[in-house]
Parts: sequence; C-alpha cells; structure tokens
Amino acid sequence: MREIGVGMVGYSFMGRAHSNAYRQVSFFYPELPVKPVLKAICGRTKEAVDAAASDMGWEQAVYDFDELLERDDIGLIDINTPNNMHVPMAIKAAQAGKHVICEKPLGMTVAETEEALAAVREAGVVHMLCHNYRRAPAIWLAKEMIEAGMLGEIYHWRGHYLQDWLMDPTAPLFWRCQKEIAGSGALGDLMAHSADLALWLVGDIDSVCGSLNTFVKQRPTLTSTDGGLGGGAGTEMADVTVDDAATALVKFKCGAMGVFEVTRFAAGHKNYNFFEINGSRGSIRFNLERLNELEYFDAEDDGKTAGFKTILASDTIHPFQGLSDGGPRFWPAGHNIGYEHTFINTFADLFKGIAEGKSPNPNFEDGVKIQKVLAAVEKSSEQATWVTV
Ligand SMILES: NC(=O)c1ccc[n+]([C@@H]2O[C@H](COP(=O)([O-])OP(=O)(O)OC[C@H]3O[C@@H](n4cnc5c(N)ncnc54)[C@H](O)[C@@H]3O)[C@@H](O)[C@H]2O)c1
Repeated sequence: MREIGVGMVGYSFMGRAHSNAYRQVSFFYPELPVKPVLKAICGRTKEAVDAAASDMGWEQAVYDFDELLERDDIGLIDINTPNNMHVPMAIKAAQAGKHVICEKPLGMTVAETEEALAAVREAGVVHMLCHNYRRAPAIWLAKEMIEAGMLGEIYHWRGHYLQDWLMDPTAPLFWRCQKEIAGSGALGDLMAHSADLALWLVGDIDSVCGSLNTFVKQRPTLTSTDGGLGGGAGTEMADVTVDDAATALVKFKCGAMGVFEVTRFAAGHKNYNFFEINGSRGSIRFNLERLNELEYFDAEDDGKTAGFKTILASDTIHPFQGLSDGGPRFWPAGHNIGYEHTFINTFADLFKGIAEGKSPNPNFEDGVKIQKVLAAVEKSSEQATWVTV
C-alpha cells in the first residue's frame, strides 16, 4: 500500500469530520491502494491549531497555508475553511501539483468555480468536492435503483433541507451570515447539497424560479475575530447579508418537475435532508435523520398490501457495506452506521481515484454545475421571474 501525506486547512466542524475519516478509512477499507498519513493541519491561531493537531492525531501544526504547499511529503490538500477561501486555496494547491478535496460549496460565484475547475484540469491533479451524502449507502442504492429503471420515467423531485439552529435572533453574526465570506446563506449551505443530489439522481436542471428570504435582518456582531461561534455576541448590531431560507421550483432537462425548500428556521428540524422522487414505476424517499433507510413504493404492485416499504441499507449486498470476502465492511446488518461513515466512504473513493489518477464524483465539474443552479435561484429571486440555468 502506497502512502500519501495530507495537509488540511480548517479544523473545526468539518476539520474534525475529515480528520476522523482519514484515521479510519484504511481500517475499514483495507483494500485501498493508497493510504493517507495525517501530515500537517493548518490554521491561523497557534494555540488552537496546536491543540487541534494533538487532539485529532496530526503530526504537525502549521500556521501558513503556503507551508503545506511547499512540502514534498504532502500530496493531498484538504480545504475546510469558510467558503470565500475555497477557490483561492484550491487554485494554489493545484498549481503546486497537489491533489485537492474541497468542502462544499466549491465557491462563491460561477466564474470563480470555473477558475478552480480550469486550474485543476491544467495541473492534471485529482479533485473532489465533499458532498458526502452521495455515499450514504441508502442514497447510493437510490442511484442504483434509478439506473436499473426501477422508477421508470421520473416526474417529480422534492428536496427539503431543514434545520433550526439559527432561529435565535440573539445568535451572533458569524461567518455563515456574511455574504462576503459565505457567498450566500441556506442557499449555498443547504441547497448546494440538495441540488447535488437532484443533479446526480434526476439530471441536469433547465430553469428555476426561486425565492430567498432573510427573517432576522440584523444580529449582534461577534466578539471574536476568527468568525467562529465560540466568540459569543457583542453589543453592536450589524446587517445579515445572506438568506435564512430559499425555495425554488425547477424544470429538469429530462422533463421532470422539482421543488427545493431549504431553511435554517424550521423549528424542530435538526438536519432533515429529505428527498422524494416519483416516477412512472414507483417512488423513493430518504431522510438523513434516518440515514440507513430508503423507502420504496413499487407502482406495479397493486395488491392489498401495496405501500411504501422501508429498506434497511445495512447488509453486505448494499453499497459500501460489504468486503470482497463477503463479510461486513463496518458492522453486521442492522448494526447501523452514522454521519461519519459517509465521509469514510467518500475518502475511500478519493484514495482509489488518486491511485488511478481519476477524479471521483462529485468533483469540481459538479461544483460548477451546482453553482450555476444556485446562481440562477438567486437571480430568479431578485428578478421575480424564471431563469434559465
Ligand atoms: N459536507 C458537509 O456536510 C458540510 C457540513 C458543514 C460544513 N460544510 C462546509 O465546510 C466548510 C467549513 O465549515 P465548518 O462548519 O467546518 O465551519 P467552522 O466555522 O466550524 O470551521 C471553519 C474553520 O476554518 C478556519 N478558518 C476561518 N478562516 C480562516 C482563514 N482565513 N485561514 C485559515 N483557516 C480559517 C476556522 O478557524 C475553523 O477551523 C464550509 O465551506 C461549509 O460549507 C460541509
């Protein structure tokens, strides 16, 4: 097994999820041709980065991103910073000849994401965008069922991504509420995931009719300067410059219709990433809060016991769940997996891709497509009209 050194920037929520996945991936995927070594973690605040390196198992802490790029023992750069730094860092990494995995959304604007795609293509490096939900076994199974024709012709996509963590009007104005850092609010944060799944499962989107809303228009500024929630609220108020919620009607190129609804203001919903797809031969639906399950209705079953059935996608025959010797990759059937395993599965495909010199899906090409959908929703909301993607 070949080794590749990883250099990671950003060490908070996603930094923790990624660090965990690097530590576990070759344990659960012993067949991997390339194994990650956690070489260096990068951030701005020495004390915090030193603590993160030691807590999360990185060999070294560094405080300058360029230092990661100069090192010969680092072959993969992993970007977990706020959205405004994704593209500049990805371009620098590609130009230094490093493979890149970047958190979503790929960038702030379509033009910017296109620059990132051009840079990774020019450098010939492997690139991946961390839409980890694709690799929940139940969602990958949905893709296989659609490809096998089990839904027939697709008529409807219904994607809701509902959270409630920002409802408190006294919550401070951290980076996710600031357009110059986040690009957008629920749109780029949540609709990016939903759009990724819709594009992958149903197909390209032709046009959109969107609406964005900001319910809490001002928030207390942060006392800390690093943009994190830990700083707490100060006494000054400042404008929220992103959307709290976004909706869109969409027309797919294949003729299907779709609806998106994403919000940080749906009381009681913690991470309700839900979709339902209805086709001529049946329907499927998924909710991330029940990550191991996929519901399926077979329209050709018209017997008395017809109805949605729940598939527990945890058996060795399900995507990502089996080893080549027939044993379970993680745990025996029904001993379910969690959020962190979607990252482990994602990284396993990244390292296979690096071994083969191929960018796995979703990659920067998908990132550009997603950004075009998000930009069209934003433009549609501003102009109160349908917009072609
Ligand atoms: N795939 C997913 O399911 C998922 C979930 C959450 C977040 N995300 C994405 O991950 C990214 C990070 O989100 P998060 O929730 O981890 O945010 P966070 O606020 O928890 O962490 C951001 C990290 O970036 C660091 N940082 C901020 N500015 C920096 C700078 N100028 N230079 C270097 N480091 C800097 C912070 O210190 C912190 O470690 C975002 O783009 C977000 O959209 C993806």
